[in-house]
Amino acid sequence: MKRDKRVAWRRANALKVEGKQVAVIGGTGGIGRALSRHLASLGADVVVVGQTFRDTSVPRIAFMQADLSLMREAQRVADALPAESLDMVILTTGIFAAPQRQETAEGIERDLAVSYLNRLVILRAIAPRLGTRRPLSSVKPRVFLVGYPGGGQIGAPDDLNSEKSYKAMPAHMNTVAGNEMLVLDAAKRWPHATFFGLNPGLIKTNIRDNFFGKDSLKSRAVETLIGLLTPTANTYAQRIAPLLLTSDIEGHSGAMFDSKGGAILPSPGLTEQHIRKFMAASEALMVRAGIQGAAS
Ligand SMILES: NC(=O)c1ccc[n+]([C@@H]2O[C@H](COP(=O)([O-])OP(=O)(O)OC[C@H]3O[C@@H](n4cnc5c(N)ncnc54)[C@H](OP(=O)(O)O)[C@@H]3O)[C@@H](O)[C@H]2O)c1
Repeated sequence: MKRDKRVAWRRANALKVEGKQVAVIGGTGGIGRALSRHLASLGADVVVVGQTFRDTSVPRIAFMQADLSLMREAQRVADALPAESLDMVILTTGIFAAPQRQETAEGIERDLAVSYLNRLVILRAIAPRLGTRRPLSSVKPRVFLVGYPGGGQIGAPDDLNSEKSYKAMPAHMNTVAGNEMLVLDAAKRWPHATFFGLNPGLIKTNIRDNFFGKDSLKSRAVETLIGLLTPTANTYAQRIAPLLLTSDIEGHSGAMFDSKGGAILPSPGLTEQHIRKFMAASEALMVRAGIQGAAS
């Protein structure tokens, strides 16, 4: 990953969070949960979307249940979210592709659906109305997409749904590339809001369950090793919160940040032409999953 020297920001000592309205899609587990709990502890009102709510006793966290492997569910969530009053949206839902190809009832490869396509459905539906009815604010409403930007992945738009061939790693890399492209595309598409990519680096969570098998010996061994060598989700959340809140990045919609919050350059190869092709393939899959009005 290469530093982006055009983007610089300073850590504030006191974070102004009180009263901020935040939605964390994928806020029930892992990195999203750590971010939700941290922002709520600082005074934000947070709504988390996921399958299983684990923070019933935490003040200022509300829950919306959804299975985001289904695009009709993503559309329902988008319609139900109070987008007009949101200051911040964090998109962090994700899994890892399984060794054998899995497909949702809507005909979408499962990792692509959970880690990428639902984010596109939600963004397309909420971005136009995002933050339009907030009290006056010095910063635009902002969206953070958690993924693995800057790592050089560009995806395979000719077989986005892994129908011609399937291998777990390339399938997952379609979601990695897709999320990075969503940031770049959204920054151009919606100038009334700002969009950023977050690369948390390796963090001990449940994300690899689908690849190694939930609670398998392999899975436990890998996560223990990752836990020994890398920061926890809570440490990452505390480290990155000042970035989420700083006004210094206001003029840099489309920027990406590494695990410590340093700005990094987008992956080479993500040209405008490639992004257009990838988005067209993504929109075609949205339509196939039954989402209307997907075309740009
Ligand atoms: N952990 C890492 O090392 C790492 C490294 C780089 C990038 N990332 C990226 O960070 C993001 C978050 O990963 P994580 O490590 O925090 O993963 P995680 O601990 O497995 O959490 C994933 C989140 O996604 C939700 N989710 C999964 N399937 C869902 C479904 N069908 N419907 C609704 N929600 C669903 C989970 O909710 P429930 O538990 O309620 O199902 C949970 O809130 C992903 O985009 C990942 O690619 C992670």
